[in-house]
Amino acid sequence: MPREIITLHAGQCGNQVGLKFWEQLCAEHGLLADGTVRMEDLGDQKDVFFYQSDDTRYVPRAILVDLEPRVVNNTLSSPFGQLFNPENVYMSPDGSGAGNNWAMGYHAAEKIQDELFDMIDREAEGSDSLEGFMMMHSIAGGTGSGLGSYILEQLSDRYSKKIIHTYSVFPASTQVSDVVVQPYNAVLALKRLIRYADSVVVLDNTALSRIAADRLHVQEPSFDQTNQLVSTVLAASTATLRFPGYMHSDLSSILAALIPTPECHFLTTAYTPFTADVVSNAKAMRRTTVLDVMRRLLQPKNRMVAVPAATAQAGASWDPKYLSILDIIQGNDIDVKEVHRSLIRIRERRLASFIPWGPSSIQVALCRRSPALGQQQNRVSGVMLANNSSVGQVFTRILDQFDRLIKRRAFAENYYKQPMFQGEDKDAEFKDAREALVQAIESYKAVSSPDFLQQDASTPYAQVS
Ligand code: GTP
Ligand code: MG
Repeated sequence: MPREIITLHAGQCGNQVGLKFWEQLCAEHGLLADGTVRMEDLGDQKDVFFYQSDDTRYVPRAILVDLEPRVVNNTLSSPFGQLFNPENVYMSPDGSGAGNNWAMGYHAAEKIQDELFDMIDREAEGSDSLEGFMMMHSIAGGTGSGLGSYILEQLSDRYSKKIIHTYSVFPASTQVSDVVVQPYNAVLALKRLIRYADSVVVLDNTALSRIAADRLHVQEPSFDQTNQLVSTVLAASTATLRFPGYMHSDLSSILAALIPTPECHFLTTAYTPFTADVVSNAKAMRRTTVLDVMRRLLQPKNRMVAVPAATAQAGASWDPKYLSILDIIQGNDIDVKEVHRSLIRIRERRLASFIPWGPSSIQVALCRRSPALGQQQNRVSGVMLANNSSVGQVFTRILDQFDRLIKRRAFAENYYKQPMFQGEDKDAEFKDAREALVQAIESYKAVSSPDFLQQDASTPYAQVS
C-alpha cells in the first residue's frame, strides 16, 4: 500500500521550485505533461505523489498557494499547466502578495484558512494511508514564510500523527540588498520550522547560486537554473519512495535514519554529478564509481548549504560534526561489494567527522534508475542527506543579522501594524522567535560535544524507568 505524501507549494519560490519538481517526476514516471501515461511497467510507485483521475491520468497530490496570481498563472500556462487539479490552486484575488512581510502572509493565511484546509483535507481524505506533508517554500519573503508558518502550525495541530517535512530555501547571505527584512521573516518562520516540522531540508541560495555558476559557467544563474539543481536533489531524495527497494521505502524510515534527536531535524544535501558536469567532462570521465560519488558528496563545494566562513572562524565555539549521513546511490548495475569497499575507504581516510556518541557510519540506500529516463551518461549518481551541526552556524549567521536590525527596530513598522504584534509587548513575537532560534543553536552545540549523553536533558526520561 502506498504511503501517500501531499505536497504544498507556497509563494513564488515554493511554486517555481515545485513546477520543476513535478516536471522531473513526470519524466521519471513516464508521464506526459498532462499526466497521461507514456511508458508503462517501470516498477515504480506512482501513487505516493500522484493519484489517478477517472480518465486515468495521473494528477499530483499537490496544492499550489500564492497571495499573488503571477507565479501560479505561469505554472498553469506552462506546458505542465494541465497536470494540476485546478481545485487545488489558491491565488489571492486582490493579488499583491504579502510584500515580503511575514506577518502579512501569516494573517492572510488565517483569513483564508477555510479555503486552504478545504483543499488540504480533501486531499488527505482522498488517500488511503497518508504518510505526511511536504512543503516547499522560501523563508525570506512574505507568503512562503508567513503563510507557510501558519500552515505548519495548523498541520501539526490537525494532523499531529503525520510527518511534516519541508524543503526550505534560505536567503543568500551575501546579497544583503535582496530584501532588507529577510532576517525578520527568516527568524519568524524558523520558529515554526523548529517547533512544528519533523524535518527540514535546508537549501540555501548562496550555495545554490555558487553550484549553478560553477557547473554552468555563468556569472549570475537565473532561478530557472538554480531550480533545476533543486529539483534534481528533490527527485533524488525521494527516489527510494518512488522506486522502492527493500529499505528506506517510506519517509519515516529515511527520517529515522537521519534524526537521532528530534530537536536536531534540519538536513543538508549534496548531489553529484550534475548532468552539466557529465557533459563538460565527458571525455575525462570514463566510468563513475560508487567511491567517486560518495567521496564527492562529502566535499564542501557540492553541499547545498553554505556554512558561513566568518562564523566558522570567529564566533563558533564548536566544531561542526555529522550526526548522520544517508547516501542514496542511484544506478542500475551497482554491486553491493563496491559499496562496502567504498565505505571502508571513506572510513579509513576519515573523510567525515561524526559526533562522538553516535554510530558514526554512513548509511547507504541503493536505488534503481527510472527506465523512462533512457540512457544516462553517468553510471552512478548520488544524493547525500546529512544531519550536520554546521546548521547551527547557519542559524547563528541569521541571528546576527536579525539582531542588527531589531536593535534599531529597523523597517519593523509594517510588522507592528499586524495583529500578532499589537499585544502589550509588541516585540513579544520577535522575542519568542529569537528564543526558539537561540535554543536550536544551543542544541546543535550540545550534540557536537563528546559528553552529550551525560548532559542534563530537559526531559528527564531517565526518571521514568
Ligand atoms: P511575497 O512575494 O513576499 O508575498 O512572498 P513569497 O513567498 O512569494 O516570496 P519569495 O518566494 O519570492 O521569497 C523571496 C526569497 O525567495 C528571496 O530570498 C528569493 O531570492 C528567493 N526565491 C524566490 N524565487 C525563487 C526561486 O524560484 N528559486 C530560489 N532558489 N529562490 C527563490
Ligand atoms: Mg511572492
